[in-house]
Amino acid sequence: MKITVINASEKKGVTYRLKEAFLDKLRDCADITEFYLPRDCPGFCAGCITCFSKSEKLCKDAEYTQKIERAMLDADLLVFTSPAYVFHATGAMKAMLDHFGYRWMPHRPAEEMFGKRAVIITQSLGAGGKSAAKDMKDSLSWWGVSSIKTYSFRLLSDVVWDKIPEKKRAAMTEKLVSAANKIKKTDHNRPARCNIMTKLKFYAARMMQKNLGKRNPEYTDYNYWKNNGWTGSKRPWKQN
Ligand SMILES: Cc1cc2nc3c(=O)[nH]c(=O)nc-3n(C[C@H](O)[C@H](O)[C@H](O)COP(=O)(O)O)c2cc1C
Repeated sequence: MKITVINASEKKGVTYRLKEAFLDKLRDCADITEFYLPRDCPGFCAGCITCFSKSEKLCKDAEYTQKIERAMLDADLLVFTSPAYVFHATGAMKAMLDHFGYRWMPHRPAEEMFGKRAVIITQSLGAGGKSAAKDMKDSLSWWGVSSIKTYSFRLLSDVVWDKIPEKKRAAMTEKLVSAANKIKKTDHNRPARCNIMTKLKFYAARMMQKNLGKRNPEYTDYNYWKNNGWTGSKRPWKQN
């Protein structure tokens, strides 16, 4: 199994410890690639829209984003982690996700995403972990991922791992170990089931692309859909 992890912070703090607890159970059966933000994608989207109109390969940050994209497309499991910063994922995570706007369903979703599984791990001191998770879930689901499991923790004690009561640390760790064990039992040769929401988004985007193609047959996104056969009878998900 291949796992690609996107960490929203470089800090080896609470989020890191929780992520490690999850990954430790999978190390013996997985090939793991990790990215730490902002180090591995330091630039902000400049809004030039070249990725939408021409090609993602022309992005000023392509040397970073293409590496991340390849690792994400190659993976069986995507793991996204973030602490809550003012009720959201970190700015570094948002900056990375902005670079993949062109992969949203109304543009050029990658076929590989439709059968993938994803896990999101967030934590906050009191509140905001769930909305931080939603920031990442929004992108994952609009990229076409159907199977997304979220683990969100409220520390309610301290933000330094060693100062969090032992009982609380054990409870969080146990939950993530159990999540990892479920992942371990999953047959990753079989793609995840594509759910109805993903299919509805696909069909809405398909209708939009067909209309755009009538007006401008040279439109980049339309040609992508056409070349994939999606404006015809082909679908990006396996028939399951
Ligand atoms: C800039 C910043 C903003 C934060 N915002 C929130 C918040 O809105 N709600 C909350 O409960 N905790 C908040 N926290 C605490 C974090 O969610 C987290 O618990 C803490 O930073 C420890 O995580 P880490 O060691 O993984 O960085 C914030 C922390 C920072 C540094």
